[in-house]
Amino acid sequence: MDAGLEHVLAAETILSDVNGAEGRLIIRGRKVEDLAAEATHEDAAHLLWSGFFADLPPASALAQRIGAARAATPYQATDADPVTALRRGWALVPDTEGLDTAIALTAAAPVLIAAAARARMNLPPLAPDATLSSAADFLRMLHGRSATPAEIRALNAYLVTICDHGLNASTFAARVVASTRAGLASAAIAGISALKGPLHGGAPGPVLDMLDAIAEPSQAEAWIDAALTKGERLMGFGHRIYRVRDPRADALKAALAHLPSTAGRLAFAEAVEQTALQKLRARHPARSLDINVEFYTALLLEALGIPRTCFTTIFAWGRSLGWIAHAKEQIATGRLVRPQSVYVGPSPIARRA
Ligand code: SDX
Repeated sequence: MDAGLEHVLAAETILSDVNGAEGRLIIRGRKVEDLAAEATHEDAAHLLWSGFFADLPPASALAQRIGAARAATPYQATDADPVTALRRGWALVPDTEGLDTAIALTAAAPVLIAAAARARMNLPPLAPDATLSSAADFLRMLHGRSATPAEIRALNAYLVTICDHGLNASTFAARVVASTRAGLASAAIAGISALKGPLHGGAPGPVLDMLDAIAEPSQAEAWIDAALTKGERLMGFGHRIYRVRDPRADALKAALAHLPSTAGRLAFAEAVEQTALQKLRARHPARSLDINVEFYTALLLEALGIPRTCFTTIFAWGRSLGWIAHAKEQIATGRLVRPQSVYVGPSPIARRA
């Protein structure tokens, strides 16, 4: 038995390589820090999906099709939380294995998330604008104003940084569903259903809750000591694969630095980070627990004015590119995923004669 399948090689993939010992992430041959600095969400879609759809158009045409699909996304005011709104919206997408379904899924996300966020602010949803990029249009639909170039760059940096990451729990869930030939919409819904857990993609919101609770650097040591003594986990720290610093943390810090009014918040977060790392190393000397992607994700999405209730769905929007690519790879090169289990239950009761 291998708890958590920690040592199981479940697939060969050309999509991403997560090197936990060296703290390195390669996505289709590109270093994540290079992609984060220059690629858009649409660029990442073309990069990840290349080779998996025979009818994939050139990158510029794909970006236009994503814009058109965004504008065609049915949406309405909703009282649902953002994860429910996204799952509901994705459930309406035709559940095929084709490119139109892939485009519809990733294009719908910003529309559904913005509508759900505005409903929680008692504001009506705003119609998508197909002439804008996905990141620019999401920020416009959310805030009701044009986004600045720095904001658009920062959101693209985030969406690209988290677009794929090996066989993490949500991607593995998507591959399992794709392996039954259920369809890409089902695979994406499986992905977000796994992602929402606090041990996975549900962590960024609680990172801000932790920073709010600590309130100022002088409180960090006492608060963290108390949390660890209670056996609580520090959100934004630790990782199943990375034994050193998650390379995405610094890619996001670099993006955050371009946003105004984050200097003070960043300095506070860095102070908390250092205290947390010291305390984790003291308590778990045999297990290197370093920062993961979620810590600076929380700061960056907060700096973009995105409500923390939307953080997981923003993660799902970016990672939908990877879920779709892995689903297609599983269909193309894999087989039905069906591991075995060992029965440790009661023996059958002998029938009375
Ligand atoms: C993501 O897999 C991926 O690639 C995921 C992801 C992606 O891009 O898809 O990178 C995104 O999910 C990042 C992780 C976000 N989650 C959090 O930040 C939540 C806090 N972190 C953890 O709960 C934890 O670190 C996990 C779940 C991420 C990893 O846990 P593991 O690999 O199962 O490690 P473990 O539970 O075996 O922990 C080993 C020890 C334990 O101590 P003991 O119980 O043996 O005494 O380390 C401790 C843990 O308690 N520990 C922590 C800790 N993480 C592990 N202690 C305090 N705080 C933490 N964050």
